[in-house]
Amino acid sequence: MRSHYCGDLRATHIDQEITLCGWVHRRRDHGGVIFLDLRDREGIAQVVFDPDRAESFARADSVRSEYVVKVTGRVRARPAGTENADMGTGQIEVLGYELEILNKADTPPFMLDDYQQIGEDIRLKHRYIDLRRPEMANKLRLRSRISHLIRNYLEEHGFLDIETPILTRATPEGARDYLVPSRTHEGNFFALPQSPQLFKQLLMVSGFDRYYQIARCFRDEDLRADRQPEFTQIDIETSFLSEEDIMAITEGMIRNLFKDLKGIEFGEFPRMPFSEAMSRFGSDKPDLRIPLELVDVADLVAGVEFKVFSGPANDPKGRVAALKVPNGNELSRKQIDDYTKFVGIYGAKGLAYIKVNDISNRETGLQSPIVKHLGEDNAFKIVERVGAQNGDLIFFGADKAKIVNEALGALRIKLGEDMNLYTAEWAPMWVVDFPMFEEEDDGSLHAVHHPFTSPSCSVEELRANPAQALSRAYDMVLNGVELGGGSIRIHRQDMQATIFDLLNISPEEQEEKFGFLLDALRYGAPPHGGLAFGLDRLVMLMTGAKSIREVIAFPKTQSAACLLTDAPGEVSAKQLRELNIRVRTKASEA
Ligand code: AMO
Ligand code: AMP
Repeated sequence: MRSHYCGDLRATHIDQEITLCGWVHRRRDHGGVIFLDLRDREGIAQVVFDPDRAESFARADSVRSEYVVKVTGRVRARPAGTENADMGTGQIEVLGYELEILNKADTPPFMLDDYQQIGEDIRLKHRYIDLRRPEMANKLRLRSRISHLIRNYLEEHGFLDIETPILTRATPEGARDYLVPSRTHEGNFFALPQSPQLFKQLLMVSGFDRYYQIARCFRDEDLRADRQPEFTQIDIETSFLSEEDIMAITEGMIRNLFKDLKGIEFGEFPRMPFSEAMSRFGSDKPDLRIPLELVDVADLVAGVEFKVFSGPANDPKGRVAALKVPNGNELSRKQIDDYTKFVGIYGAKGLAYIKVNDISNRETGLQSPIVKHLGEDNAFKIVERVGAQNGDLIFFGADKAKIVNEALGALRIKLGEDMNLYTAEWAPMWVVDFPMFEEEDDGSLHAVHHPFTSPSCSVEELRANPAQALSRAYDMVLNGVELGGGSIRIHRQDMQATIFDLLNISPEEQEEKFGFLLDALRYGAPPHGGLAFGLDRLVMLMTGAKSIREVIAFPKTQSAACLLTDAPGEVSAKQLRELNIRVRTKASEA
């Protein structure tokens, strides 16, 4: 029906007769002339109808926002002074000859231009209208380009796209499973995959050597701005490659993407051991754009009377850390109170600080609620260690290391945002040398990555000292977001059994849950490893979107519901009977 997209028209089309199809974005009546802004997925073009062509003029007068129309006309230059430099089509307009109304539209629930005044709920309920906004269309278009370039890159590097099942068994990635009841196997359930992890390892046992899939994954976990219950991974697995090889291939993929789509050349990604990331940034996904760092001061306060500090300083699981904020002296009492509330979210019981007013004045140079508790000498030693200058402020966290890291780690990011401390636009990096296990308070272990991750030591060394063992895992981090993660896997049955054993998974449970994987490892499993990127997170970063929902066509809400289709929904009694399921009602529970 159309000869051109609205958004594609340029001065080069002047004098051409063209046909456009699209939606009426806006209609304006200007002293006897009617302007229609016509919109399609590529953008907006201005069409002018004058009364000379009475029939189409009358029709143009009758259209309303979001009517679907077909327009034939001639492209001409806009009159001098009426050009719009902000619009791709701003140099031209179309003089309308004919107008056909292909469909009428009810008044939309919100005008596309003032979506900001309406809540996200309304946008999600009428997502098909929200997606008409050029801003949304652009994000989905970029998403499509990203997938395309990734596929090209991986195909060029010898990867095969292989699909894995959606109806399957549980994959242990650490979240709750979404379950699907089986009609044909009474009382049994499929689990939707949290990732294709087990299948991609089986494909390596089969000899496919280099696999990829743009795979949908399902996780029933607490949602945040960068998490969805259903999301997409760029999933990769390889055989006979070292972690160096895998990191080089996948780093190359991300580097190419930024070069092709944004014209940005990344240097080699820096690598940082997990322990360093935690100690300097309080996070295993540090945002290196922000120059603030945590500095340990436990040794300087271990002997002070002030129990808030000396307690954690003498606790092997405790940490006392300082965070210097250059020019932080400007922060008001109210701002400091707000930051104190903020770290409270992470369990911090307070947020001690020292304002450095005048280093040369040993008596009154420091302004702080804790200097009297610490003693001037200790306070000045801290000032010296963190390298504070006049005008700086030092925040403190003292508690279990986990709380201090989370609280000061989050505070670092917040200060970076609030005070605009960014030193770069992009900061990609690798975090490596993760511990194999995290130790719970009761001494039990759980896997930091999934339990198929290979340790960097032998079975004997692992058994002797599991809590100290490091893994051959690596995460790619971009601007403080974990973009992807992977590892070299265990390919020997004895090592896999040891890990399950250390994780306290009984032989019966091993057999029941992963018997098929353990079997496969006995039939000639090659050394293998891989990685998975979160595609949604990648698109979110590349489009500058604030939330992952902005880059998914039909996302779920924070409470994991779809407002558009009203899913999840109730099902009929007949369906439940077929599935042999009885829903426990609140009344029958009581
Ligand atoms: P992991 O669990 O780290 O590893 O997931 C890989 C990447 O997927 C993205 N991601 C998510 N994105 C949106 N919403 C979610 N709920 C969500 N959860 C994860 C992140 C993350 O880095 N099988 C392993 C990979 C491997 O070892 O090869 C895995 O799934 O960007
Ligand atoms: P107080 O002696 O209770 O008045 O506390 C003195 C200062 O220490 C206040 O600024 C508190 O916010 C701060 N504070 C209390 N507990 C902690 C903690 N666990 N970590 C860091 N600062 C704290």
